[in-house]
Order: sequence, then structure tokens, then C-alpha cells
Amino acid sequence: PSTSAPESGAPADSAPAVTAPSGVATNNAPPDGAVGSLSGGDPYYPNSGNGGYDVASYDVAVVYTPETGELLGTVGITATVNQGVRLGRMGFDLQNTMTVSQVAINGKNASFSQANSKLIITPASGLDEGASFVAVITYSGVPGPIGGGTAGLGDGGWYTLASGGAVAIGEPYSASAWFPANEIPYDEATFRVTATVPEKWKVISNGLPTQDSLPPTPAGSAVFQWTETAAMSTYLTTLYIDTFTTTQGVTASGIPIINAYATSATSSQALGDKTASYVSFLESIYGPYPFDSVGGIFIGENIGFALETQTRPVYPQWVDEATVVHELAHQWFGDAVTLTNWSDVCLNECFASYSQWQWQEAQGYENLDKLYLQQVATAKSQPSFWELPLVDMGSGNEFGDVYTRGPLALHALRAEMGAEAFSTLLKDWVKAYSGKTASWTDFEAMANKLAGRDLSAFLKAWFRDTGVPADQYLYPGNL
Ligand code: ARG
Ligand code: ZN
Repeated sequence: PSTSAPESGAPADSAPAVTAPSGVATNNAPPDGAVGSLSGGDPYYPNSGNGGYDVASYDVAVVYTPETGELLGTVGITATVNQGVRLGRMGFDLQNTMTVSQVAINGKNASFSQANSKLIITPASGLDEGASFVAVITYSGVPGPIGGGTAGLGDGGWYTLASGGAVAIGEPYSASAWFPANEIPYDEATFRVTATVPEKWKVISNGLPTQDSLPPTPAGSAVFQWTETAAMSTYLTTLYIDTFTTTQGVTASGIPIINAYATSATSSQALGDKTASYVSFLESIYGPYPFDSVGGIFIGENIGFALETQTRPVYPQWVDEATVVHELAHQWFGDAVTLTNWSDVCLNECFASYSQWQWQEAQGYENLDKLYLQQVATAKSQPSFWELPLVDMGSGNEFGDVYTRGPLALHALRAEMGAEAFSTLLKDWVKAYSGKTASWTDFEAMANKLAGRDLSAFLKAWFRDTGVPADQYLYPGNL
């Protein structure tokens, strides 16, 4: 069955209105108003995200039992209707492993259904355009990886660890494994998580520890609460439950540092202890650190990737200095400046990867021109190195060339513009788009403006085209 609800009025979202994925069971109440889209409109991940509203905050409370893997959750979502007309039905992303038992909208019970990783809610009465509303959703289940993969394969979601603990991470999505969310990067929201666990476990998340409206602590349990006050994309949320130790510090610019180390990750402490120096270096090239806390979560297991979860990246066992610099650079590129579409993920990864180059240069480890020329010389005879564009590389290809060709492209841009103009561009870019969403087209426009001349052909050759760029782009004047 598919939804037979009439669509009244055009969605104000840029997102196309899509029909429910086939197999979606709909709730019976007729919607009093328009039906929100079940797509956030990203061409690469059309099933992620939803239309009709804009989330302002998530207040997530979970009770987790590592011994059974069971999670009981209640989330309060505060959002504003942006459907353009009265909103009568809306979707949230939630994996089917989690079962919803109750939904209230503005304190009134709402009908709902779940299918195909969507929770579809029909409020008792429609919600006016521009009105803010609170959805309180109660749910439970045994969360797991989205798509059923394993952490080593790089899917997102909820992963149980050898220690018996668990971690929620993943890109391009992860939140919908453990709480209902509008899982699309541009719908950023503040985030508070309160987690109750058996006494032997600890919990860390994004932001800073808080103690607001804590639930009573059951005997034998412990309650932890973390709050991130800067709006964040849902894939940048994390929750780590384990028997870790934490260390605290402060950056030169006064930002509190909190690092967490699994028992199996104590050897990473030397890296975490250098957080302040990495942040100082990145501030020198990108401007002030954009959030009110920083740190890392060193889980001591060999998952396939590290992730730039906001304020507090998650690192695998194999973490090294380059990885920490990379994930901290993402706090500016990806976390403060947020993607509009996944096709522009070079805005995150090309810059975080080039930050590693700049770090090596600042340490005197590498002459970047030499490194660039060496890598170009090798890559020139490898057609596969140039097969996909850095911008709009195609769904499923996002996390590849941006790491290898991305830094070459940015080094070439630096040589083309001159180091000084390039440095201004990086700082101005962050200043202009921090706390906002951005596209590659926005970056091209700013590069052209700061260069004082038209770089379109250069930018197209390196970022939008495939194949080896012509020599005039491969060997810019200032090399
Ligand atoms: N953004 C992460 C990083 O900076 C990579 C995530 C890779 N994701 C994946 N599914 N493999 O390293
Ligand atoms: Zn990255």
C-alpha cells in the first residue's frame, strides 16, 4: 500500500514532494493539512530527511543496558513548520529495529506508523505554517548498524564494542539508529542527551556535561547528560558508552578539552594530550575554533574510519596524528560550515585532508610543492586516479578521491592564487559560512572574488572534470 493522503498545497521546501516508499503502512487518520515530504531532497540519499518542518532542538533521553543491548528512549523534538501551508502529517527517520510506542504533538496524542525506516506522524490537528511544535516520541529496541553492516565496513549507526559498550557514529547518517531525527545535514539542531546506564558504565557525547532536569537515578544506575549548544547535523551526533577514562584541559584560546579513552586506547593519550597544539595550529589558519568544547573519543577498536562528530571526534585504535588533525579540521570544514548536499562533500574532505598537508608543512616535515610534484608525477600515468570528479562524484563514491586528489587540487589552487590570497580565502570562507550551509558553487564564487580574476576554468579542470588536468592547471605559475 502507498499513502493515499491528498497533498494540499505545494511544499515550501526545495525538496521535491515524494510519495511514501512502497510498503509504508499509513495511519488511518486523515491529515488535517498538507503531507510533508518523506525526502530531505538530497539526490544521493533521497530516503534521508523529511520536509514540512525545521528542527531546532533534540532532547534525547535513553536508558541503555549493555548486557542486553536494549535501549529505551524518549525524544522531545522542537521544530517549526515550513511546509508553506498547514502541515497535517510528517515523517522522521528511525530505523525499523526501534519500535515507537507513543507520540504526542504539543501534548496531544498523535497517530503514527512505522515502515521503511520512517516514523510517520499524524497530529490530532494540523500545525500552522510558521508555528513551532514539540513532538515527544517514546520508543525502544535493540539498536544496530544501519543497513546491517559492520563498523569495519563503514556504515553508520549503533555499534556494540568488544568491551560490551557501544558507540553511535556514521556518515552520511547514524542518528536514526538510536533516536527519531530529521537525518539530513542541512537541518541542524541543538542537542541534549541524557543517558541512564548500569553503574559500571560511563557515557560521553558531544559538547559539555550538564545537569538540567535530570531524571531520578534508579538504584544501581548512573545518569550522564551532555549538551551541544551549537546547531549540529544529525550525523555529527555521537554517544559512547564504555568503561573509559577522561582527561581534561583547555586550549590556548580558552576552550575546555575533554578526551575519553577506552581501556584499550590508553596508548592514544599522548595524541589526545596534544589537542591544544592542534587546535592552535588550525586556529592560525582558519580563525577561532567554532564551538565551546573540544576533545576526542578514543574507542580502542579497529573500526574502518574516524569521524568528526561535533566537538568530539571518534577515533579508532589505529588513530595517528594526521587523523586527529584531519578530524579537528572538520570542526571548521563540515561541522561549523555545513554541507547542503552530499555531492559537495569535497567541502569537508578536501579541506580536512589538505589540513594534514598544512600541518606537515608547519612542522617542517614536508615541502608541499615537492610533495605535490611527486604525487602528480606518479598519478599522471594512473587513469583511475582521475576517473571521478571531486565535486558530484556520484552516490557511494563520496569517500574516495576527496582524500587523495582533494589535497592536490587545493595545493594547485594555492599555487594558482598565491599563498596569501589562498589563506585569506580559507579564513573568509569560514567566517562567511560558519553556522550556515554552503555549496561548492558558493566556494567557487568566493575563490573568484578573492583571486580578483576568473578562476572558473582552473576550478572546473580540477574539481568538476575528470581526467588529468591540462598542464596549465597542473603546473600553476607559483609552484
Ligand atoms: N568523514 C570521515 C573522515 O573524515 C570519514 C567517514 C567515512 N565514511 C565511510 N562510510 N567510510 O574520515
Ligand atoms: Zn574527513
